[in-house]
Amino acid sequence: MKNYCRKGAANIGAVILTVTNNSGGGQPVSMENAKAVADICRKNKVLFVIDCCRVAENSYYIHHNEAGYENKTYRQIAEEMMCLGDAAVMSAKKDALVNMGGFLAVKDADLAESCKQLLIITEGFATYGGLAGRDMEAIAVGLQEVFDPGYLNYRIVSTRYLGENIKSKGVNIIYPVGGHAVYVDAKSLYPHIPPHEYPGQALVCELYRIGGLRSVEIGSVMFGKYDSNGKLIPAPMELVRLAVPRRVYTQSHIDYVIEIFDEIVRTKDKVKGLKIVKEPQFLRHFTAHFEPL
Ligand SMILES: Cc1ncc(COP(=O)(O)O)c(C=O)c1O
Repeated sequence: MKNYCRKGAANIGAVILTVTNNSGGGQPVSMENAKAVADICRKNKVLFVIDCCRVAENSYYIHHNEAGYENKTYRQIAEEMMCLGDAAVMSAKKDALVNMGGFLAVKDADLAESCKQLLIITEGFATYGGLAGRDMEAIAVGLQEVFDPGYLNYRIVSTRYLGENIKSKGVNIIYPVGGHAVYVDAKSLYPHIPPHEYPGQALVCELYRIGGLRSVEIGSVMFGKYDSNGKLIPAPMELVRLAVPRRVYTQSHIDYVIEIFDEIVRTKDKVKGLKIVKEPQFLRHFTAHFEPL
């Protein structure tokens, strides 16, 4: 809010609301909250964009937790939320249940026209936007299937099962468990590893080394900054995200992941931190190189 006042609405290109929250637990955004953001944007004439890649999971939580939505279907809830935005972006790899693609949807005809012009020189015509016809058809089907109550229930319950079982081993996670992932607190798992030695990245390596599990650090590798002396300003949390791909894993796969945490807990005091030996200028969490300390 402080920054918002300092910059002024005229200097803000857009407000993006990501449903669900991907960098802090996969927690849902309530309809009440989304409406409040939409109101602020409307009053200040700022474009309101919804990153809706997990809108079906978000709708599940609204249906089950928010008063007044218990009799609405997941799809009706998603439609209500999408009507609040001036535009939407979607990575279809999430709640469109496909392996590639995405889209941008814009209400304002002039803005849509300028996006289309840019699209032609980047991805291609608006009729396909860089996607194969087969992939667009799969997205159309996925967007229908994702609202199936049986699918959504299995999805949310199986992610919760993973989280509850990791938690029962004494490992702290962001709780309650969000829709698409379990977020493990590496700071409390490895209190002997300071933030500048990247406890989250150390856990990512341990999970891969012990169990072949691929996860991602959401901590000081991803969000840490350097001060003017090159000293790391750590991120507020040192998390590791265990994202669960949709329609891929069975119960026994998830049980395998849970078992790996026995070994993670058994060996936790011996784990050492890491140092960065190579890092790009931007988005270092994608390509930085590390060495063990
Ligand atoms: C909330 C959110 N938006 C956008 C993206 C980007 O998606 P893509 O990899 O399809 O570009 C991601 C990817 O994880 C995401 O989680």
